[in-house]
Amino acid sequence: MKILVIGAAGRTGRLVVDQAVGRGHIVTALARRPAQGPGRAPQAEVRGDATDPKVLREALQGQDAVVAAVGSSAILRALIPAMAGAGVDRLVMTSSRSIVATRPKAVVAVMWVLLRSAYADLARAEGMLEMSELDWTIVRGSMLTDDAGAGKVHTDFEADATGGDHRLPRADYAMALLDAVEDDSLVRRAVGVGGIRTGSRSKGGAKTKTG
Ligand SMILES: NC(=O)c1ccc[n+]([C@@H]2O[C@H](COP(=O)([O-])OP(=O)(O)OC[C@H]3O[C@@H](n4cnc5c(N)ncnc54)[C@H](OP(=O)(O)O)[C@@H]3O)[C@@H](O)[C@H]2O)c1
Repeated sequence: MKILVIGAAGRTGRLVVDQAVGRGHIVTALARRPAQGPGRAPQAEVRGDATDPKVLREALQGQDAVVAAVGSSAILRALIPAMAGAGVDRLVMTSSRSIVATRPKAVVAVMWVLLRSAYADLARAEGMLEMSELDWTIVRGSMLTDDAGAGKVHTDFEADATGGDHRLPRADYAMALLDAVEDDSLVRRAVGVGGIRTGSRSKGGAKTKTG
């Protein structure tokens, strides 16, 4: 698949590029600064701001899918019409479990106080996607860490996590984003992703995915 990775210089973005190339995809990295990382290099790079329609037009040429490794309403405002214009339908975007979570109440309340504007923007971005004609998937991560990936994640489709660990290594989040872009059954769905808690039992339709 030809995949455009937006936010490719970010901590998750770099891992998405590395793993996508490792899976045999042809990757174009879009970033405002050099996407240096220890991992595998993308086949192509476009330097620029993902809110710029001209940059997006260049980057979207010939792509099959887009992974937005950054959640942003400003990016989506430019990206949704740019994808329609380029005839690219498939978009997987990062978001946060906190956007829809209701429990644990005290933690959710504190997180919303601390990160109100970031969460409000992610909620706006999710709404824009849901209103669009794109084949979108929203991948709501829990708390990202730079720990080594386990090669497994906990996934579910509930507002509140049905299992797993609230800590999610970015390497495993990158894996879940790529699993989503390869999985048409996730089109127009929002999936919650958390880390693996050793010895935990999943319930309520949750599943553990291995990369
Ligand atoms: N952090 C968490 O705990 C958490 C939890 C749940 C979900 N998430 C989701 O995961 C995403 C990735 O998290 P992260 O911590 O890996 O992010 P990160 O390291 O901060 O990377 C985000 C990247 O996006 C790039 N970017 C932002 N606006 C851009 C624009 N207009 N054009 C081009 N590039 C742009 C940034 O570029 P520059 O380097 O140039 O600034 C940065 O490299 C978040 O955006 C969020 O949706 C995060």
